[in-house]
Amino acid sequence: MSHRIAVLPGDGIGPEVMKESLKVLDAVAAKVGIEFEYAEGAIGGIAIDQYGTPLPESTVKLCSSSEAVLLGSIGGPKWDNLPPEKRPELGGLLALRKSLNLFANLRPVKVYDAVKGLCPLAADRLSGGLDILTVRELSGGIYFGTPKKVDDTTGMDTMIYSAGEVERIARIGFEAAKSRRKKVTSVDKANVLHTSILWRNTVERVAKDYPEIELNHMYVDNAAMQLILDPSQFDIILTGNLFGDILSDESAALAGSLGMLPSASLGTEINLFEPSGGSAPDIAGKGIANPIAQILSAGMMLEYSLANIDAAKRIYSAVDKVIASGLRTADIASGGETVSTSEMGDAIAAVV
Ligand code: IPM
Ligand code: MN
Repeated sequence: MSHRIAVLPGDGIGPEVMKESLKVLDAVAAKVGIEFEYAEGAIGGIAIDQYGTPLPESTVKLCSSSEAVLLGSIGGPKWDNLPPEKRPELGGLLALRKSLNLFANLRPVKVYDAVKGLCPLAADRLSGGLDILTVRELSGGIYFGTPKKVDDTTGMDTMIYSAGEVERIARIGFEAAKSRRKKVTSVDKANVLHTSILWRNTVERVAKDYPEIELNHMYVDNAAMQLILDPSQFDIILTGNLFGDILSDESAALAGSLGMLPSASLGTEINLFEPSGGSAPDIAGKGIANPIAQILSAGMMLEYSLANIDAAKRIYSAVDKVIASGLRTADIASGGETVSTSEMGDAIAAVV
């Protein structure tokens, strides 16, 4: 059986790390007897250069006619001075998230024993372990609310959530908690924001359907603090678009490197998989980027879009093995010996 995958390498380190994830996918495919058919599309800065728009219509069509989308990363200094709507972020990635209705973003973070030393916290703070899944609402909130504008005197964004939007992301969070440690921490700013009052009330209501899941609420400022004081208390962090963006980077830093953090963006039909980190223009083209976030994102694609848990687990455990064996890209090397992006990809592909 052949799976048609839309591949959008994007900008910066995107193309380099994407290449490694396809290498690993092909190695897994050979092991489990499936096939992939990759169809490449342009998004972000490269699409601006080639087509004059960060999200060509052909790319949207390609994505909606594929089984899943693998995305690298977008953006870079070259396109930073364009008007917001024409930039890779708003006009490319956010427009694609909206058009595929990708409302749930799952960002799992765990600390690998072998690279525990990279965690910026003192070792005793991690004694209870670190294994957090951020469930971030992705297609609403202040990222998308209108009106928004900027001129010389005023900047304006609108934060808006409907109960329906909150309810569907809350259900994703509670469902995910079932197969984990059964604890949901809902993060909001309900002492100030009206959207957060709705958020909290709605999450409370949905929680009634999940009596086996423990729910607590936390203000976002406190959550940011608790993450560095006592990260072990978190299982699922359920939160809105902006808070999830911020807290997921913070939790990734606890794991040592943003280069290890994958993500799944789930929609109503087609899902998209991308690293949580950015295009890292400072190291692009040097062959030193860590491909693990992209490779794990491909693993999440196997799990969430193709429902091939066996194949997904092969990728997850291949990454575990290679990290345990001591192989390190520069971001996780702590000054020791390093391997290149493609050497890391080769090593993972060899043990799937
Ligand atoms: C992310 C990124 C994006 C976001 C940017 C590039 C628009 O930071 O996926 O976390 O803010 O969602
Ligand atoms: Mn982000």
